[in-house]
Amino acid sequence: MSGGEGRRPEELRSHQWYGTDGLRSFSHRARTRQLGYLPEEHLGKPVIAVLNTWSDINPCHVHLRDRAQAVKRGVWQAGGFPLEFPVSTLSETFQKPTPMLYRNLLALETEELLRSYPVDGAVLMGGCDKSTPALLMGAASVDLPTVFVPAGPMLPGHWRGETLGSGTDMWKYWDEKRAGRLGECELAELESGLARSPGHCMTMGTASTLTAAAETLGVTVPGASSIPAVDSGHDRMAAASGLRIVELVREDLRLSRILTREAYEDAVAAVLALGGSTNAVIHLIAMAGRSGVRLTLDDFDRIARTVPVLANLRPGGRFLMEDFHFAGGMPGFLSRLTDVLHLDRLTVSHPTLREQLAGALVHDEEVIRPRSRPLADEGGVAVLRGNLCPDGAVIKHIAAEPRLLKHTGPAVVFEDYRTMQRTIDDPALGITADHVLVLRGSGPKGGPGMPEYGMLPIPAYLLAQGVRDMVRISDARMSGTSYGACVLHVAPESYVGGPLALVRTGDSITLDVEARTLHLDVDEEELARRRADWTPPPARYERGYGALYTEQITQADTGCDFAFLSRPGTTPDPYAG
Ligand code: FES
Ligand code: MG
Repeated sequence: MSGGEGRRPEELRSHQWYGTDGLRSFSHRARTRQLGYLPEEHLGKPVIAVLNTWSDINPCHVHLRDRAQAVKRGVWQAGGFPLEFPVSTLSETFQKPTPMLYRNLLALETEELLRSYPVDGAVLMGGCDKSTPALLMGAASVDLPTVFVPAGPMLPGHWRGETLGSGTDMWKYWDEKRAGRLGECELAELESGLARSPGHCMTMGTASTLTAAAETLGVTVPGASSIPAVDSGHDRMAAASGLRIVELVREDLRLSRILTREAYEDAVAAVLALGGSTNAVIHLIAMAGRSGVRLTLDDFDRIARTVPVLANLRPGGRFLMEDFHFAGGMPGFLSRLTDVLHLDRLTVSHPTLREQLAGALVHDEEVIRPRSRPLADEGGVAVLRGNLCPDGAVIKHIAAEPRLLKHTGPAVVFEDYRTMQRTIDDPALGITADHVLVLRGSGPKGGPGMPEYGMLPIPAYLLAQGVRDMVRISDARMSGTSYGACVLHVAPESYVGGPLALVRTGDSITLDVEARTLHLDVDEEELARRRADWTPPPARYERGYGALYTEQITQADTGCDFAFLSRPGTTPDPYAG
């Protein structure tokens, strides 16, 4: 115990496993000898669980096996005892049908693992899209001292003199190929140029959005989220996180004192001012729920009207995460939002956010714009209501062609993603640039897992005519690296009989982003007739995790958490009783 301050060894949670008289404690000590540790290496020291989402199949986390060593270095240096736990990896690229199906499973694993082992504090390592919310949701439900170590963005991609953003440029060049402007040769070069180092996507996609949100919440060391994954600064950040977690345990500074309503509101403000991913809406609502904070879609819309977009990052803007890092990262960025942030709140590193941001600078005003020169006057996400989405829908309007933000057009309805894929390029459908593409069967239950189908492809013959954006509506999500006039997260979803299930090809639909409305121009009697004719689709899963998922998953507007995980209540500590 340093300087005689903080908690005594007997007050540590792990003391119940190691330090008490009795057979069980003796057995735990004997088994720790079996692991090769001397008593003086661990007895009386804070036990720090390092939860690592490393895997051979996850390119976004492939460096985390090494990085965990830096975390442990910090923990040892501070007098703690680190234990690394491998936990599920959620690879946005490889996991099907979508890692969103498994976010709550990693959250559950995180929660139960921290609770059932002798853990005094946790370091969570991840960054690929759902990993960040999953780890933090689980940790919030256990409420130990916790530090999050973001995986860090990969280096910028390069191809024939152009800088490439993973994801964003993949969609863009795939459309060029579909329009017949790119050959196999160019495609093979792009394959090697899009993603050239370990780390998560380096645009302001879902991964960067959520790690930036974590930094804003105050659960990382300052400046952590934008450090490129392969930069030696990332090692130092990991070591600093290891040092800090031991102090947090001694101070008994638990996650619940950091993850307050004020912190979540600030994370929403930051995400919107970053022009961040629409997925953050779902994840932050779910994370807040685990902290006992009721965050709603209306909070997003309200806060969006108070913050400008200041980060000039793809997909909405020009630069990539490495540029953002050297422009000042989140400390520099947040220093431009101090009038909307709650500066008196606590973070893992400072008694107040005000102190944390003191001295933060912006070094490149093209990447992080001044308030006098925003990219957009309002936050990037708008919440829509109307008879087509009684429980809300979202649109990232800054990533859409402005002419489409007020638009009426006839619907072309696709029952599911496969049908859409098969038929979208068929000229017989007669789709024009004014049509509204509607996809259903892609929500939390129907997808299942609410896949990122929301950026429906533009028919190839329209692409060839130069059409690059259309109004698209679905109960799906959209990749954080996608763009376009895509109305997402329509709730309730079609699979449970939401109004999206009642739309027919040819119906007129009106989108008005300024008025925040989405309207199906069909009268109520006709809708009632269609509703009476609607039959629920058959169950997708008869058994297994999928069946549990379908039974428990909540709708997009409440964060798609599991009902049994998000409801209030306490869980006994294994040794407490
Ligand atoms: Fe992992 Fe994009 S694929 S962050
Ligand atoms: Mg993604």
